[in-house]
Amino acid sequence: MTAQPSLSSLPSPLTPSTLSGTEALSLFTLAAACVAVLANTFQGDGEPLIASLALSGLAFAATFSMIRWLGPAFVRAGLKGVDMSKTTRRELPECMGAVAAVVYLFVVIVFVPFPFYKDIVAATSGGGNRDVVVRVEEVQQGRFLHRFPHGKLASYLSAIISLQSIAILGIGDDLFDIRWRHKFFIPAFASIPLLVVYFVDFGVTSIVIPVPLQPYLGELFDLGALYYVYMAGVAIFSPNSINILAGINGIEVTQSIVIASLLAFNDCLYLLTPYPHPATDSHLFSLYFLLPFLGVSLALLGHNWYPARVFVGDTYCYFAGMVFVVVSILGHFSKTLVLLLIPQIANFVYSTPQLFGLVPCPRHRLPRFNARTGALEPSVTPWGEYRQPRPPIAWALKLLGKVGLLRVTLDAEGRFAETSNFTILNLWLVWRGPLREDRLAKEITAMQVVVGLFGLFVRHRLALLIFKEDNWGL
Ligand code: UD1
Ligand code: MG
Repeated sequence: MTAQPSLSSLPSPLTPSTLSGTEALSLFTLAAACVAVLANTFQGDGEPLIASLALSGLAFAATFSMIRWLGPAFVRAGLKGVDMSKTTRRELPECMGAVAAVVYLFVVIVFVPFPFYKDIVAATSGGGNRDVVVRVEEVQQGRFLHRFPHGKLASYLSAIISLQSIAILGIGDDLFDIRWRHKFFIPAFASIPLLVVYFVDFGVTSIVIPVPLQPYLGELFDLGALYYVYMAGVAIFSPNSINILAGINGIEVTQSIVIASLLAFNDCLYLLTPYPHPATDSHLFSLYFLLPFLGVSLALLGHNWYPARVFVGDTYCYFAGMVFVVVSILGHFSKTLVLLLIPQIANFVYSTPQLFGLVPCPRHRLPRFNARTGALEPSVTPWGEYRQPRPPIAWALKLLGKVGLLRVTLDAEGRFAETSNFTILNLWLVWRGPLREDRLAKEITAMQVVVGLFGLFVRHRLALLIFKEDNWGL
């Protein structure tokens, strides 16, 4: 949240607080259908995947309605922000990702019994031990005949703990605008439960060496403790990288939906393999966490897409990033996640001159709205007579300008007047010229889909050129 120029800001008439008749009817129908499907799953084996889909539908309906109903309450509580890329500077409810996160957490908690339904029945009713002859003196210990998969439950619960911790950080940040150096390491702490479960449950810390390097390094290279440092690094990077690829309506949510969909698509590939594939269970686990995430995110997008009626807040960005960390660490595919974060990695790497203070970094780097044309243009960092970059930086800035990676404007004396801000949203505008806000969001999202699909292709096909095998064998 930002300190808002309150004189010029008005409460937004764009933000109604009730559902329209059609919306109410559609959401009610969806919710009723999902409840019916959910009730039906109890007649079979619990059908966790179907139950998860039904709960995700319910999560969509609940998030969509609650964001609408709670908007004014958030504004009253001071959680509001000005939409900087519109002609009238209206105040919109901020931090709406908190609603999505809370609904999500409720849903994954309610879901806990489903994947364990068979085990619970077997462990408690004797259903799984029907054919076992039990002597009278063993009856009291009947429960112990079936070994409940406590390990799986521990993974599940550790995921919930991590997600709850990150939701608290996000809400704290939206309330108090915590400094980045204070909040930077918090996701790493939030990932400790995941890393402990990974350690005791899986513990693989070696990486497969590409065939050409195998004569020198062997088939596997054990990173040991460094592998945990790497996973904690992914936990820090993923939430923060989503938060800095932000600032135009819808982009925080669409990028998260693209990553979640591609991860879910990758999970589905493993469901198609003949069971029992060793990785099927961990990919099912990942789907149980991604489907409800898609449910709440689509509902949030319904309100945050251009022209936005609400903002998602840092809560959503951190939460989304952590969902990806949770599924990829516990599903054992953190390297695939890294491939799907390529646009975010590019944005981070490109941002480093401003993040590390080589070039001044204003509080907001979002593209600049030109009220005359209604289009977005790259936002800039102004330089002045007394504020010029040091020689090596000046040389690098000019070089970036020459190769088309930065817009550099010099004054009559050849001094720096302004340089565009270092985000890929601004860079896209440098390349494409001014664009309307929704057009920019669509283009960046399309780029991300293409890059992400290519990432998965690399993961499963191109990798075979340098690795002996892919773990997805049809
Ligand atoms: C990050 C970026 C910052 C960017 C901001 C936009 C870095 C280091 N920080 O900061 O450059 O300006 O996100 O989210 O890269 N807003 C809009 N339209 C939108 C979304 C947000 O105008 O579509 C404005 C609103 O005033 C909103 C505010 O941005 O209240 C939210 O900013 P916040 O999420 O607090 O910024 P940061 O995450 O700290
Ligand atoms: Mg933010």
